[in-house]
Amino acid sequence: TMADHLRKYESLFTLTPQRMRMIVEAFTETLEIGLNKPNQIVPMIPTYVFGWPTGQETGDFLALDLGGTNLRVCLVTLQGEGKFEITQTKYRLTEEQKQDDGQKLFDFCAECLKTFVDTNFGERDSALKPGQNLPLGFTFSYPCSQERIDHGELIRWTKGFGAANTEGRDVAEMFKKSLEKYQLPIQLTALINDTTGTLIASHYVNPRTKIAVIFGTGCNAAYMENVKNIEKINHLGIDPAAEMAINCEWGAFDSFEHEHLPRTKYDAIVDDTSNKPGEQAFEKLISGRYLGEILRLVICELIDEGVLFLGQNTYKLEKPYCLDTAFLSLMESDPTDELLMIIGIFTHFFALETTLAERQFFRALAKLIGRRAARLSSCGIAAIVSKMGYLEEGCMVGADGSLYNKYPGFADRVHEGLQDIFGEKGRNIITHHAEDGSGVGSAIIASYDKDQERRWI
Ligand code: BG6
Ligand code: GLC
Repeated sequence: TMADHLRKYESLFTLTPQRMRMIVEAFTETLEIGLNKPNQIVPMIPTYVFGWPTGQETGDFLALDLGGTNLRVCLVTLQGEGKFEITQTKYRLTEEQKQDDGQKLFDFCAECLKTFVDTNFGERDSALKPGQNLPLGFTFSYPCSQERIDHGELIRWTKGFGAANTEGRDVAEMFKKSLEKYQLPIQLTALINDTTGTLIASHYVNPRTKIAVIFGTGCNAAYMENVKNIEKINHLGIDPAAEMAINCEWGAFDSFEHEHLPRTKYDAIVDDTSNKPGEQAFEKLISGRYLGEILRLVICELIDEGVLFLGQNTYKLEKPYCLDTAFLSLMESDPTDELLMIIGIFTHFFALETTLAERQFFRALAKLIGRRAARLSSCGIAAIVSKMGYLEEGCMVGADGSLYNKYPGFADRVHEGLQDIFGEKGRNIITHHAEDGSGVGSAIIASYDKDQERRWI
């Protein structure tokens, strides 16, 4: 019966508190190793973003955001006192652009910027003074190893990107070339990760924020570290009393070795068939790019076993990645007894009829996969909290991304997970939606450029 099948998946996808604590322990150790030695699997990237914002940063800044679902261009006006205004336009990237030549991808970014500047700045506009370059923060959300704030060598593409001639190169330099090509009166002052932007932006609005996380197409975190603890850059002579944001790139946790995370055979298939087998092991269990695919693989297995959709043509469901994570959100949030939304999904997108028992089963599966993702996310947050000793006094965690913002109950499950790990004290760690991290964050960081005190390098 469906109930027997469900029990099997329950045992595969459920994480006990004890298992979670083991993961946290291994995770914490991995974070330390990444800080001590260069080029580790979880690279713990020094960002050259020094210290928290004062909240008094002001001025007009451009921001370009590449790496989530959309390409966005924003004009941000920081007004001080944690306030800001923002004007933005979104552009869609095609799948081809993600795989084509890297320089072409940056040319497209510059082209969008040009369109944005042309439409948003009249001659009388105060933001763009003649002869003056407008500072731009570029949020590029892939692992880049940095030597300064306006530099970043792409370590590897993640989230299914694969643009050629880009890995191993300085993407800031490549992007500057594109800016020149389009003769834009713009100066790239900072290259940042979305987590770093979110960290700084959340703190600008809410100074109790100590950690930032993205749960979207990908998953990752950033936090503020004491320079003296970043052993691998000790030789640079940066003031050891200073603080610097670290982009963890924790999506790579447990890559290649697969020692610590509870991978099912469906996760192994997702991994094997991806453009980067072995990599981003943690991310592949959590992020929005993969959750729908995990559910699809479970359903396909049951089709093969003759359990589901007997006598119906299931070819539409056999296409990899045809089941979007947004469908899981819809399945979980269907308010009707008959599960009418789930009927809609299967008839409309896959031309399949379902029984009520099947629909309840799909909803239960979505819940298992979504819940596991949230509980693993708690493990990552808990690792940073333990490492930094934030549990006693508590802290806020700025969070963004489609999964966090749109998946029903995701935040509650993360909080529940934190309590399973830490007990009652887990309540001291609270996530909150970050107000536009990549836009506001990169504007604030671009403004650090004016602050001599922050120039340790
Ligand atoms: C957005 C942030 O809200 O979330 C981006 O502004 C970030 O910087 C994105 O990359 C991540 O979410 P998703 O779901 O688009 O990957
Ligand atoms: C991927 C990227 C990382 C980014 C995250 C969230 O993990 O490698 O840089 O922060 O996705 O967008």
